[in-house]
Amino acid sequence: MQPPFPQPGQPLPDPNDATWSRFGRRGFLTLLGGSLASCASRGDSFTDLDNLPSGTLTHINPQTQRVVPYNPSMRVSSNFSVDNADRTYRQTLAPGKFVAMTFDDGPHPENTPRLLNILRERNIKATFFVIGRSVEAYPHVVRRTVEEGHEIGNHTQTHRLLTSLGTSSLLWEMDACIRSVRNAAGVDMRVMRPPYGGLTQYQRQVVHQQFGYPTILWSVDPLDWKNRVPSIVSSRIIQDTHPGAIILAHDLHATTVAAMPYALDTLLYQGYRFVTVSQLLAIHNHLASRARLNPSVSNS
Ligand code: NI
Repeated sequence: MQPPFPQPGQPLPDPNDATWSRFGRRGFLTLLGGSLASCASRGDSFTDLDNLPSGTLTHINPQTQRVVPYNPSMRVSSNFSVDNADRTYRQTLAPGKFVAMTFDDGPHPENTPRLLNILRERNIKATFFVIGRSVEAYPHVVRRTVEEGHEIGNHTQTHRLLTSLGTSSLLWEMDACIRSVRNAAGVDMRVMRPPYGGLTQYQRQVVHQQFGYPTILWSVDPLDWKNRVPSIVSSRIIQDTHPGAIILAHDLHATTVAAMPYALDTLLYQGYRFVTVSQLLAIHNHLASRARLNPSVSNS
């Protein structure tokens, strides 16, 4: 696939443009954008899932004159449903190399904006699991994150280990973070990640019943909070990423942000496509309903 090469000085691609024409407006993206309920009866559209373009789009950053790969703009619904039996996700069914990049423990006044620049240059939309207390301290960073098309997820108000809390404290942690994000950026969150990944099965039920949140864990963990070496962080992400992966990282750490250009560019050149967690869940729903109707074409 021949990538378009804008000349130096030309603007970077508009994320809202349909730049990946082979994906097509009549393909599964449109289907996902429509009613999920109707998907099952239109199984023919799934042929698109198995024919993902392998080429990587690139452009030249006019400031640096550097060739940068970028994520194709994709119209993928972020509407997902969660049934009671499956409310915790570490990874998802994916029709191809779809992954979700997630960043925890922000916003950070310097590292998060730097990360947003890196993501914008690559047209990558990520999911930020924010701490409400930090949202209150840096509301402008969250506003920018939302304005640039990223998803915000609930990472509690004060980042305590929730398994040590009673139900009323658990609900407060969720509620206070909801208020902080609403006040800062005017959006409601649809997914949560417990600090340290710690949430009992009962607490997951409570969180799902009260807020409708699925619990989002991860399948790729570069241990970036422990190893503050960008090359180690990026190589772990590259080695461990798989189709349907939910990748954990922390925008709190400058070393993690420094690891991102190489990690993201390598994955883009390998054909990975980045979507938000909600979009990944919508794709998962879509494939799961297909698999239920026709087990012989199960993706797993
Ligand atoms: Ni955390």
